[in-house]
Amino acid sequence: MTTEIRDDLELEIEELRRERNAVILAHYYQQADIQDIADYVGDSLSLSRQAAKCDQDVIVFCGVRFMAETAKCLNPERTVVLPDLEASCSLVDGCPPAAFARWRARYPDHVVVTYVNSSLELKAMSDYTCTSSNALQVIEAIPKDRGIIFAPDKNLGAYLARATGRELVLWNGSCMVHEVFSEKHLVQLKVQHPGAKVLAHPECEAGVLEHADYIGSTAGILRFAKESSDRTFLIGTEARMIHAMQKAAPGKEFIPIPTTTGCACNECPHMMRNTMEKLRDCLRDLRPEITIDDDLRRAALRPIEAMFEVCDGAVPTAGD
Ligand code: 13P
Ligand code: SF4
Repeated sequence: MTTEIRDDLELEIEELRRERNAVILAHYYQQADIQDIADYVGDSLSLSRQAAKCDQDVIVFCGVRFMAETAKCLNPERTVVLPDLEASCSLVDGCPPAAFARWRARYPDHVVVTYVNSSLELKAMSDYTCTSSNALQVIEAIPKDRGIIFAPDKNLGAYLARATGRELVLWNGSCMVHEVFSEKHLVQLKVQHPGAKVLAHPECEAGVLEHADYIGSTAGILRFAKESSDRTFLIGTEARMIHAMQKAAPGKEFIPIPTTTGCACNECPHMMRNTMEKLRDCLRDLRPEITIDDDLRRAALRPIEAMFEVCDGAVPTAGD
């Protein structure tokens, strides 16, 4: 920042970050000014790695609650704060642990793979967690003769089943943001922009994914757009991701795929709960803090570690 005048709120956050010896982690779905002030911006997997490795006293997690909980599981010595504790996720809310336990009991011989967008209680009942970045790797690491149950996202699960040829038993959950992209509007956009590449998150429904040139996590979508020689992209993920894409690949055109209502501003209401004011307040007050009962933390950590062992060969630690 050179000639720009920094506003007071940004300066306050910077000062508090220094005073608290804090690191600010932000997901790509956060509002632009939060992404711009963060130390790291990333997808769920890369932010978990950063959280596990960090040696600052405080982790401010600008994302949703399950992400901050994963950070706390991986690095329990740190104080982990989330600007708004109510920032949940429709996948978490749509898979209550007691109902999941009953469903899981019907498949006693199956390996349980749980998307990281889930409660700690669900993780504690699982063999592996996965993120959209490494879900294929996790499924492929499971012996072919073992049955698999996958929760809570049926769209990601169905995509994994198609991509791996494995039969997965799926929990009937979905992401309220990705399930409403409209295939009809996507087809219309493709006609208007011939040659544009379609980049979509695997939480989208199969009808949208069928048109995709690339399917992957938020970080994967960003990487594809940056490295591609194409100039125009139709984006099937949360709208604020476009801020990060414009920064990473200036001069390229990113067009959000409209939802079934025709709106091209498909934002996650949970991610939106975080604001710069709440970020300042949580740095100042060290609240709301993520605290987890130690037995639950250990039980939820086991499948998270199993995921890292499959995808990274080891769990990231402060020494990495
Ligand atoms: P990523 O892991 O791809 O960042 O996705 C997280 C998420 O919540 C998608 O809706
Ligand atoms: Fe959950 Fe969907 Fe929001 Fe991601 S975009 S946090 S999956 S509700």
